[in-house]
Amino acid sequence: MNRISISFLLLCTLTIGACSKSDTATEPPVVAGNTRPANLSQYNKVTAGLKDYFTAGEYFTMGAAITPSTVDNTDASKLLKRHFNSLTAENGMKWSSLQPNEGTFKFADADKIVAFAQANNMKVRGHTLCWHNQSPDWIFKNGTATASKELVLQRLRTHITTVMNHFKGKVYCWDVVNEAIDDGSNIYKATNWYNICGEDYIIEAFKAARLADPAAKLFYNDYSEVSPAKRDKIYDLLKKLKAQNLVDGMGMQGHWNINYPSNQLLSDALEKYKSLGIEIQVNELDVSVYNTNTDPQTTFTSWLEQNQATAYGRYFNIFRSYKGTITGVTFWGVADNHTWLDNFPVTGRKNYPFLFDTAYNPKQAYFTVINF
Ligand code: G3I
Repeated sequence: MNRISISFLLLCTLTIGACSKSDTATEPPVVAGNTRPANLSQYNKVTAGLKDYFTAGEYFTMGAAITPSTVDNTDASKLLKRHFNSLTAENGMKWSSLQPNEGTFKFADADKIVAFAQANNMKVRGHTLCWHNQSPDWIFKNGTATASKELVLQRLRTHITTVMNHFKGKVYCWDVVNEAIDDGSNIYKATNWYNICGEDYIIEAFKAARLADPAAKLFYNDYSEVSPAKRDKIYDLLKKLKAQNLVDGMGMQGHWNINYPSNQLLSDALEKYKSLGIEIQVNELDVSVYNTNTDPQTTFTSWLEQNQATAYGRYFNIFRSYKGTITGVTFWGVADNHTWLDNFPVTGRKNYPFLFDTAYNPKQAYFTVINF
């Protein structure tokens, strides 16, 4: 944004009645007393953050996935309070964290995240009630034998009901089932869940969730969600769930990179999911600086910084054009000092996927994303 448009925005926000409604409709208001910084020095002089630019403009909540220790880190918690109004537990609400052994529920870590969110007026997304990773083996065993479908579904219902009751009124939406769709030619991934229960585990999970907390919004969440073959299988599942009023939204994970996806792929996917009349949230956004598993480790060069900013700009321009349908965007982390991508798909290859660098300062991508 150039200096002229910044001045214009300031004038709009500070001069009551100076702008007609149609002027402000295209350009959401900036929080009074703040403008959109274009560089670090301006950033340090204002207090507004992502949530002010996006939620105040009635786009979507801005979220981050965190661990319980994130809230104890002074720099990280300061950044969270400035920029985010939604939190997700990166691991703390997964089955292995909440019910590592049958009947033994451990809520302390997740409760710590929820308490921080509540103290700071942030929403909490629940992630995730049913997934094939981070699910203890006992779910699928009866002694040394494989558990029956009936037993597995009963355990699923008990877990979902207990967890959702515990967080009722504190967690506004849940990723009920995560990553059930196959990456190859099958419809469903051949997980323990699917091998024992078939498709029924998905339906039963959503039914139990709806029953446990009718006020909670229920999401299906997956990756490679813009890839046409997988997208269409996800669409079919969502359609089936929607027909039974079991799902409220699609969670697009958003594990992307500086070149992928194209605007076309992203818009096509959004259009397709939107056609079901459900909400969409981008739940695990990170933009890797690597394109392939064989790219060698790099430092965060200015070339990468520019290219990542361009990619982030593209993605957020499209997100904003789905105002009313996209209701939340959550980063799968806070700043570049902590990301699962440092160990995936290559162990120990440092990545820089977020809007904030390893010292919690905004990167070029931040300024590009808020510049609208
Ligand atoms: O909890 C143990 C700890 O006891 C042990 O000392 C330590 C040693 O490595 O491991 C800890 O477990 C790790 C866990 O994260 C908690 O830190 C696991 O090894 C590690 O595999 C696990 O990774 C998580 C991954 O899901 C598991 O698949 C990542 O942090 C988390 O970011 C990632 O999140 C997933 C989403 O839930 C779903 N979509 C994909 C996304 C990225 O994989």
